[in-house]
Amino acid sequence: MTSPNPIPFFDLTRQYREVGDQIRAAVEPVLATQQFVLGETVSRFEKKIADFLKAPHAVGVASGTDALVLLLKAAGLSAGEAVLVPSFTFYASASSICLAGGRPLWAEVDDRLFLVTPETLERSLMSQAVRGKDGVFRTLNGNAPVRGVMVVHLYGQMADMSAISRWADDRGLWVVEDACQSIGALHDGKGAGTFSRGAAYSFFPTKNLGGAGDGGLISTQDPQMADRIRSLRVHGSRQRYVHDELGYNSRLDAIQAAILEAKLAFLPGWNSRRRFLAKRYSDAFSGLSLFRVPAVQKTGEAVFHQYTIVFSRTVTRDRVKERLMQEGIGTEIYYPVPQHRQTAFQSFFRTGLDVTDRLSASVLSLPVFPELTESEQDRIIHVLSEVAGKGG
Ligand SMILES: Cc1ncc(COP(=O)(O)O)c(C=O)c1O
Repeated sequence: MTSPNPIPFFDLTRQYREVGDQIRAAVEPVLATQQFVLGETVSRFEKKIADFLKAPHAVGVASGTDALVLLLKAAGLSAGEAVLVPSFTFYASASSICLAGGRPLWAEVDDRLFLVTPETLERSLMSQAVRGKDGVFRTLNGNAPVRGVMVVHLYGQMADMSAISRWADDRGLWVVEDACQSIGALHDGKGAGTFSRGAAYSFFPTKNLGGAGDGGLISTQDPQMADRIRSLRVHGSRQRYVHDELGYNSRLDAIQAAILEAKLAFLPGWNSRRRFLAKRYSDAFSGLSLFRVPAVQKTGEAVFHQYTIVFSRTVTRDRVKERLMQEGIGTEIYYPVPQHRQTAFQSFFRTGLDVTDRLSASVLSLPVFPELTESEQDRIIHVLSEVAGKGG
């Protein structure tokens, strides 16, 4: 039986009720000029979001996945080269490496943070690669040179980028960041893209800053990276009908840019509301032992794209999910199948990733969208506390 007042996991229509006027007003001038591809609207949004991200360069593209592919290409990834990437992430973090011609080298994550750390990266690299006399790490399986690391700021919390970039530097590896879930998050007061070759963002509708369809962006400190990505997004061309390399057709649409520009003004407020709701959950759950709440690093400011709790057993997680569903409360599992177990990646070496496997089997994300009301959240807290009181 479903509850009379369901609480959705996410409800974009509530956001549209808040910002609909601004969005309609932003779209109209694009329709009036009929300039839909790149042009002034996209440049203006790129400038505004670069300021927001405190990055000198921001380049809009067609999706977060494309942002990762173009970023990897511009970072220098060549065919057959390996990139360390966590398996505990969304599929596109790893598929983008393959789409850019490389191959994933699976990295373990920290059990509490869900993120890679210098320790998990070191263990993963050393168990799957050896350093040659030339200083280059090569995979034990296939002898592929390991060139870089993709750090994923999962659920809206940045990994310890200062420590990771030092770790990578010492090993001759470049770093790129998958910031698709972490727009506005900070580490040591700085955002993604500051500590690496660049960061990729997604504007998929349900992201903290979501468009009316697909969209993505790369931020970088490096003018040469930005120039290469600008060329790659228009068929490898800097001058009309002159093509320097094989590129893509991957532009951010002007309508998307106009909508995102209008929504950007709300993003800081939405992110702090997510932080408020997350803290409210964690405070309310502090005495419970049935599950643990997400760990927050003191050096950063998370934007809680997801609020994810961890159970010690899969059966308990699944039973609690079922119970919440009976109460009309939406939850999600991000992600039930880790990437190293996906058929799509079966040709790549499958290392043992105990933490990743355990997390995939025991995580549960609760509603944390900014428009969730406190009384709705109280109901979720109440049901979970009741279930926890009965031991699941
Ligand atoms: C961690 C992560 N990486 C990459 C992507 C890909 O972004 P998009 O869906 O915009 O291609 C997403 C979003 O779905 C994501 O959450």
